[in-house]
Amino acid sequence: MTKLRAAITAVQGYAPDFVLTNQLLEKMVDTTDEWIMTRTGIMERRILKGEGLATSDMAVEAVKGVLEKSRTRPDEVELLICATVTPDMVYPATANIISDKAGIKNAFSFDLNAACSGFIYALITGSQYIESGKFKKVLVVGADKMSSIVDYTDRQTCVLFGDGCGAVMLEPDTEGYGIMDSILQSDGSGRIHLHQKAGGSLKPASHQTVDNKEHYVYQEGQAVFKFAVTRMADTAHEVMVRNGMGPDDVAWLVPHQANLRIIDATGKRMGLPPEKVMVNIHRYGNTTNGTIPLCLWEWEPRLNKGDNLILAAFGGGFTWGAIYVKWAY
Ligand code: ACO
Repeated sequence: MTKLRAAITAVQGYAPDFVLTNQLLEKMVDTTDEWIMTRTGIMERRILKGEGLATSDMAVEAVKGVLEKSRTRPDEVELLICATVTPDMVYPATANIISDKAGIKNAFSFDLNAACSGFIYALITGSQYIESGKFKKVLVVGADKMSSIVDYTDRQTCVLFGDGCGAVMLEPDTEGYGIMDSILQSDGSGRIHLHQKAGGSLKPASHQTVDNKEHYVYQEGQAVFKFAVTRMADTAHEVMVRNGMGPDDVAWLVPHQANLRIIDATGKRMGLPPEKVMVNIHRYGNTTNGTIPLCLWEWEPRLNKGDNLILAAFGGGFTWGAIYVKWAY
């Protein structure tokens, strides 16, 4: 028997039906399919349409799938963490709303905000409750309705983001599988380059903040790009090396999907061939907290027990990090 670890035992993703293509965006703002493809690798993204639908409505679909796959009754779940930057409401936590909608009555639940690194932060937070022996069933959700904070008249940001989510079940493992190692970091001085200006306590919502379009994503793309490309690549490489692995030992890199050029740079820094890098940014764009679980869900049929995965992310804050996971099924 080896150390008690938190293993991912099920994964489910969800993306809404409506497809916003580059061709549709060409009609909305001054952009081209060619610019978007060469600068970002994005072809299309999904958008949650419909009155009264929010982040929790997508997340609950993923959660239900995970409960079914892991043969878990809702009342067995002990903790649900939702990583999101687009909560249904400022409060209560979207995690509370998801739990209610999924019939999860015995868990405590909370939201976690680390922008695009939220899912990996939440995975490590959830894993602590398993590793301590306190809990046996922890749900970790990454979900964002980015279309609710994107200005569709701003070509610099509206081409990047999409809506989507995913969820995983964490359970105890004593056979050497699960979350093996992680590096998580943040640098709040990066906030000037990527944030939402209004709607918080610094600048509560007012007619003026709405007129000034201050409730949307504000991003200085180039500054964020420079930071992201080095931090995500260096951290993923560090996790690989400090666990005695080389490129041959890594089965998959599971990168946050913000920009194909950042993904490629991370794969190259680790010495991985493109076949070992999960990429679906062309179909979903940047779904913020949804990207990594959406990748795991899509690749689930191709994952084998014992595969070494490196999850890596970078986001607003700045926040970044990487996790080494030995796949458990
Ligand atoms: N269509 C056509 N032209 C455009 C568009 C567009 N959609 N957007 C910008 N341009 C123009 C600019 O105006 C600029 O024109 P100029 O040279 O005449 O001034 C030119 O294209 C180049 O713009 P840049 O911003 O320098 O383009 P860049 O190559 O940096 O790509 C991008 C922009 C894709 C945003 C890139 O910088 C990037 O991916 N940044 C990192 C994003 C990221 O990782 N974010 C973190 C996660 S997100 C989160 O945490 C919520």
